[in-house]
Amino acid sequence: MDKAGVPKKFFWGTATSAYQIEGAGEGRGESIWDRFVQRPGKIVDGSRATVACDHFRRFKEDVALLANLGLNAYRFSVSWPRIQPDGTARSHAKRGIDFYNKLVDALLSKGITPLVTLYHWELPQSLEDLGGWKNRDTARRFEEFSSVVARALSDRVHYWITLNEPRVVVELGYRDGIHAPGFHEKPATLRHVAHHLLLAHGLAARTVRQESKKPTHIGLADNCAIKIPFSLSLEDVAAARSAWRQDNEPWLDPIFKGVYPQDAHFPIMAGDMNVISTPLDFYGLNVYHGVRVRASSAGWEPVEFPASYPRTTMGWPVVPECVYHGLMDLHDVYQPRSIFMTETGAAFRDTLDSRGHVHDPDRIAFLESYLAQGFRAKGEGVPLNGVWVWSLMDNFEWERGYTQRFGLIHVDFSTQRRTPKSSARWFRDYRRKIQ
Ligand code: FCB
Repeated sequence: MDKAGVPKKFFWGTATSAYQIEGAGEGRGESIWDRFVQRPGKIVDGSRATVACDHFRRFKEDVALLANLGLNAYRFSVSWPRIQPDGTARSHAKRGIDFYNKLVDALLSKGITPLVTLYHWELPQSLEDLGGWKNRDTARRFEEFSSVVARALSDRVHYWITLNEPRVVVELGYRDGIHAPGFHEKPATLRHVAHHLLLAHGLAARTVRQESKKPTHIGLADNCAIKIPFSLSLEDVAAARSAWRQDNEPWLDPIFKGVYPQDAHFPIMAGDMNVISTPLDFYGLNVYHGVRVRASSAGWEPVEFPASYPRTTMGWPVVPECVYHGLMDLHDVYQPRSIFMTETGAAFRDTLDSRGHVHDPDRIAFLESYLAQGFRAKGEGVPLNGVWVWSLMDNFEWERGYTQRFGLIHVDFSTQRRTPKSSARWFRDYRRKIQ
């Protein structure tokens, strides 16, 4: 233990995803995002991730920057079409595996523990052509891909995330058409997509565990819906809890209990629920903001933030208490063995000043207040065992292109020059101070 009661084995990291930073490099197959970005009007600045941060070529420099932050963990994702360009086991790309081998070795040589995400939204286009996540078979293809990756890396990688934010895949990708593959499906189809993603999660968790050469830790990274009681009255606190249950049970009941709240409409086949509820070693919470809730005649109602409320450039309200309530609700209702905050962070309007510095006090204030709420929950018994700031560096922010800067490190996309922001130094010092 240390000054703030933070155990020595606490992970302090940053997070990225392959599509957002790597660039195509050589040998990567086409993914649904490569196809989606070509659709007119889908990416606000009309940009592409063909180069992004060129991390595929510059990973050594990036690991050195990461090491300078003095952190002990790094979350990154493996690009599925870089490993299996057409999404099937027939076609492993050795070059793809080699890249992640080198990345893992570089991290370990600096004492940084890798946390590897298997699916951060890069479905091979060839699998989308066969129905994507609407097709149950995609879950099996994902199981194969996961076992290839686990076989290659599990002698050195002991922390794994199966899926990143499956809810976002369903809602933005298949319902609202905002993310790849860009559909507007009906609720019945969305339940198929959700079930197949959950199945893929369970299959991958099992296969990674089986393939692993050393004891391993498996979880998923979920953007659990977070509710904040509008006041501390018993009514508002209860209203926030029921709103939380209503939004989260359809995802968390299958994972933690092996049942759907109302199971009638999901395409469940024998054995599925056992697979989906494969016990996890940790639950990863991605947390950015939350919704305030108060009691109403209908049970509960959301309370809008006023227009003047502080927000990031994403338009997301800055609500540090969402970390505390998100952790407490999760812990009270499902008691995960261990919880990682697999993402938190903020986009602001960062610019290089005349001396080439990026001063980002808003991000520092954001992180300080969000982390404080995490440690508040930890102090009340929540097994929070690590935090990964989104993101290591500015990158391709999906439908927002390059308009949102989330990095602790500034990237000039015309020159690929990296400049650590004030928040990068702050994060390094913060960790030293409390640990
Ligand atoms: C999360 C995603 C991540 C990034 C951040 C801002 O939902 O997992 O890739 O886009 O939001």
